[in-house]
Amino acid sequence: MAIIGTDTNHAAEVLDTGGLVGIPTETVYGLAANAFNEEAIVKVYKAKNRPAFDPLITHIANQEALQPLVKHVPVKAKQLMDKFWPGPLTLVLAKSDKINDLISSGLSTAAFRMPRHKLLHELLEKLNFPIVAPSANPFGYVSPTTAKHVNLQLGEKIDYILDGGSSKIGIESTIISFEQDDPIILRLGGLSVEEIEAAVGKVNISISSSSKPSAPGMLISHYSPTKSVLLGNIDELIKKHQKDKIGVLSYHKKYPSYPNFVLSEKASLDEAAKNLFSGLRWFETQDIDLVLTENVPNEGLGKAINDRLNRASIK
Ligand code: TXA
Ligand code: MG
Repeated sequence: MAIIGTDTNHAAEVLDTGGLVGIPTETVYGLAANAFNEEAIVKVYKAKNRPAFDPLITHIANQEALQPLVKHVPVKAKQLMDKFWPGPLTLVLAKSDKINDLISSGLSTAAFRMPRHKLLHELLEKLNFPIVAPSANPFGYVSPTTAKHVNLQLGEKIDYILDGGSSKIGIESTIISFEQDDPIILRLGGLSVEEIEAAVGKVNISISSSSKPSAPGMLISHYSPTKSVLLGNIDELIKKHQKDKIGVLSYHKKYPSYPNFVLSEKASLDEAAKNLFSGLRWFETQDIDLVLTENVPNEGLGKAINDRLNRASIK
């Protein structure tokens, strides 16, 4: 198990000397390393058991830190960062030579994000390098939203975990890349499509889910927990699975006859997003085989929630 604490000086020292630190962000917890230290980058892939073709997001403290790392910033990218950074938005941009090919998996582009979390910001300000940080889960598991989640799964492999409380948004950042300078959403996430379109107009969505990813990392099974998840109409699924050991992950209705995790009793999509990954993890501790769940309204953060439920469920 790793040491957990709130000491940003210690976290900075660990990163400075090539170690790994679990970091809080407003979306999910990350597994951070010095982006300018090749050995440290390799450690991140190893600790997560992550394939080398799945590139990392570089996290920066401010827009000035971005300039030397990129070759070109499209006008709409600049508008988006002005409006939504710091926040749950990742931009994929043409990278400069300062970004190691290991970070970008050999692509000519790389992903950048300026997170919005007080303690993490305090840490970033103490560093004279950016940090790479994938979500702090072993490859193929749901992302962690607390320091404890990180410790349970990766504690042995990391030097320190900075505890910033539970993640406020609870779902990963929205990823946007650019084609001929036009934005394309590659991953639905903590910044809603509605907010993005209000800022820069209609945006195409291209969330691939094949096993040969054009947007790496969006593999179909990427969010599968160890229990089987069935997505549909919960009442019908219950009737069909009377003989199975079932649990219910519902949006706002209660199912008291079964192990039940309600995402948001008051039917708030923001609250449901915040609780989603803890909910999926909770079933791992229950004596059940099947998790029955349902889509939430497909608006706001509901789109990203439905995307994650879809990926977690068996077809
Ligand atoms: O909210 C988040 O984004 C969290 C926190 C820790 O910041 N991080 C996160 O990282 O979700 P990760 O590694 O789990 O997912 C990052 C994804 C990759 O799987 C990949 O799909 C995409 O970012 N990505 C990175 N570089 C890319 C590139 N050059 N082109 C397309 N997609 C890229
Ligand atoms: Mg991830």
